[in-house]
Amino acid sequence: MSPALLLHQNGYNRPEERRPDGFATNAIHVGSEPSQETGAVMPAISLSTTFKQDAVGVHKGRLFWNGYEYSRSGNPNRDAFEKAISSLEFGKYGIAFASGSATTATVIQSLGPGAHVLAVNDVYGGTFRYLTRVAEETQGLEVTFVDLQTASDKEILSKIRPNTKLVWIESPTNPTLRVIDVPHIIRVVHSHPSRPLVLVDNTFLSPFYSSPLLLGADIVMHSVTKYINGHSDVVMGVLVLPERHLQLAERLRYLQNASGAIPSPFDCWLALRGVKTLPLRMKQHGLNALRIASRLAESPYVQEVIYPGLVNHPRHAVALASLSPHAAKFIDSLPAETLTHGVPYGGMVSFRIKGGEGAAEKFLTKTRLFTLAESLGGVESLAELPALMTHGSIPKEEREKIGINEDLIRLSIGCEEAEDLIDDIEQALENVVGESALIIDELAIKKAHAAEVVKGHANGVYPIEA
Ligand SMILES: Cc1ncc(COP(=O)(O)O)c(C=O)c1O
Repeated sequence: MSPALLLHQNGYNRPEERRPDGFATNAIHVGSEPSQETGAVMPAISLSTTFKQDAVGVHKGRLFWNGYEYSRSGNPNRDAFEKAISSLEFGKYGIAFASGSATTATVIQSLGPGAHVLAVNDVYGGTFRYLTRVAEETQGLEVTFVDLQTASDKEILSKIRPNTKLVWIESPTNPTLRVIDVPHIIRVVHSHPSRPLVLVDNTFLSPFYSSPLLLGADIVMHSVTKYINGHSDVVMGVLVLPERHLQLAERLRYLQNASGAIPSPFDCWLALRGVKTLPLRMKQHGLNALRIASRLAESPYVQEVIYPGLVNHPRHAVALASLSPHAAKFIDSLPAETLTHGVPYGGMVSFRIKGGEGAAEKFLTKTRLFTLAESLGGVESLAELPALMTHGSIPKEEREKIGINEDLIRLSIGCEEAEDLIDDIEQALENVVGESALIIDELAIKKAHAAEVVKGHANGVYPIEA
């Protein structure tokens, strides 16, 4: 069937006259066009490792790269996923990898030997490890970590060296959810004569809440393992680059093929299926997170709640200003009573529990719906203790400097009913720091006091009263 006839069947003869499709429409349709051959509405999984050539070097298919030849260099399921995610990130070139970490490694390799990278100081631990331990050793990479939330423009510019090739941003940071003014940092970095590239790791907000390429970033990356796949059953990563970076995209693709850091067709198929519900899930994650954060803020058992969507988060205005256009549209559509305490801003909430040493650890064993586990971004709610789990490898003094103390709990808010999640958190808090726990604590204080008195007697400090 000719493309013209297909367009006619779908009701449009002149697609250029049509309004561009919105986020959810692209999430469902881009990369999932019905098969021309069979009519299958959902893409088949293409397991073939090799592809028939029409003549030597004449390959079939593929949009931006050479046609299909061998599945390491290109595969229909990978292409479909890359196409979908590129449309959601407003980019042109998507490159899917075997994991978020393989994505990071390939970007850093592409900088070549002796390069310098400026990175946000509380970057994801695995990125920190690759930059400081692997790349430093294997390619002589120099790294400077900067607090991009507080650094002045002058300070940032003064840290850019002649060999600075890349600035690595993550926002909000993990697990303290510090918000970086991404568009501002991009403008400052790009004002430097050597114009280093700016990469934004957009894993925490997902393409739904933030569109870094629209803010001027050169590269956006994701651990697809998290929100994009959204079901905690795929490990994968992706890069998206804008049209102006064809050469860089080709270099990254070349390195990926050379190292073989590719995802399987099945993982790409699953991740594409995840993409279709990304907007639905992200809305629910955000609404649930906002309700939970607001409730935690009122709890007598909580020291501090960190959720940039809350109006009283110190960087709330910065978070609002860099929302994606579709997230802004979603928030505008919400009734005023939903927005009393703030706006949905992703699904991650951190809080500091009261109750002294060990309370956080105890809390994590008392929840029914929140599963104690690392990772984030799935439909199911998870909870963890960053100080001893995801960030356990950072020396105590270092992590405490950036607020990762042992009372800090990180929640990945899922898509369950908000009331059920709230009940679950409240019963666990009650159990650990609530009345019953206070009685136990009082007992402990009395016991300790009694022990002091006995010790005092022994030392002759406390006179024995007649
Ligand atoms: C912000 C961020 N970037 C990158 C990664 C690495 O991704 P992966 O675990 O898929 O290798 C993670 C993993 O937790 C992450 O949280």
